[in-house]
Amino acid sequence: MPQKEIVLSGMRPTGEQHIGNYFGAVRQWISIQNQYKCYFMVADLHSLTTLKTTKNIKEKTREMVTTWIAAGLNPKKSTIFLQSAVPEHGELSSILATLLPVSMLELNPTYKEMVAENPKAGSFGILNYPVLQAADILIYKASRVPIGKDQDPHLEISREIARRFNHRFGKIFPEPQSLFDEVPKIYSLTHPQKKMSKSHGSDSYVALLDSPDKIRSKIKRAVTDSGSAIKYDSINKPAVSHLLDIFYLVSETPIKKLEIKYKNSGYAEFKNDLAEAIIAHLAPIQKKYRELAKNPKKIEKILKEGSNKARLKAQKTMAEVKSKIGLLQF
Ligand code: TRP
Repeated sequence: MPQKEIVLSGMRPTGEQHIGNYFGAVRQWISIQNQYKCYFMVADLHSLTTLKTTKNIKEKTREMVTTWIAAGLNPKKSTIFLQSAVPEHGELSSILATLLPVSMLELNPTYKEMVAENPKAGSFGILNYPVLQAADILIYKASRVPIGKDQDPHLEISREIARRFNHRFGKIFPEPQSLFDEVPKIYSLTHPQKKMSKSHGSDSYVALLDSPDKIRSKIKRAVTDSGSAIKYDSINKPAVSHLLDIFYLVSETPIKKLEIKYKNSGYAEFKNDLAEAIIAHLAPIQKKYRELAKNPKKIEKILKEGSNKARLKAQKTMAEVKSKIGLLQF
């Protein structure tokens, strides 16, 4: 039987999970668990570059992993682990950091954006972010990385690092490629030009664990476009188009059909039905979450076992890396 390709992806434990994280990442992860050998990582070290405080990071980590499993990620199929529990990521990262000129990292769009927003935010950790990400991927020799388009520059840096290592020391790393051409992108309910994120306040996103009433009120308040027609037109009617995207994802009703159905209704009816469709879609995940959350030790055990498993593979790769470089090992 041919070996399954290796997949790695990660998410920072920045707090409440929302439907953007779910449809943009976790649902994809769930769908490929049988096909690939998958590693899914809590990128807690990466989150240090952006978190204002690490106060609740333990709870955020547990909560995020609980939502993953509630949604259908299966620890029997996939290795679910904690980045900081596998110290080899940092070890490899410090070796990979010697392969690229700083000037190349300074061109990374995420870095440029953060420094433009806040010149004091330009820590070495932020500059080094894509190098640590390359280590995350390469240490498992992952050839596929399921992530959204916004991560393309990071993946390009990972490939550049892999090429440079292979060229200089001998080929051991695949050049990782993204896994999906198209990942659904969910937009903010209050800032329809922006991706859904927690940074625009809690009315701008639907959290996976929001109560039905909260979902109804957030959807009711979601920004719409001028003119009442419910029509998919991402240029002239971005807000309604984004709501239609969500409606499609939660109901699996094609957008064309939704347009026909709501042709003669106003926003109120459309939004009302959308909210109910979201509530129905999230109900089984929320139910499973509540069951799992009763037993946080079980979640920790999953992470611990996953991290131990990941670590064995990471140690193996590190030995190979050291041997290729020619470092003394005992
Ligand atoms: N940078 C990713 C994000 O913000 C998180 C991440 C860290 C990641 N390491 C990774 C994603 C390795 C894929 C592979 O979403």
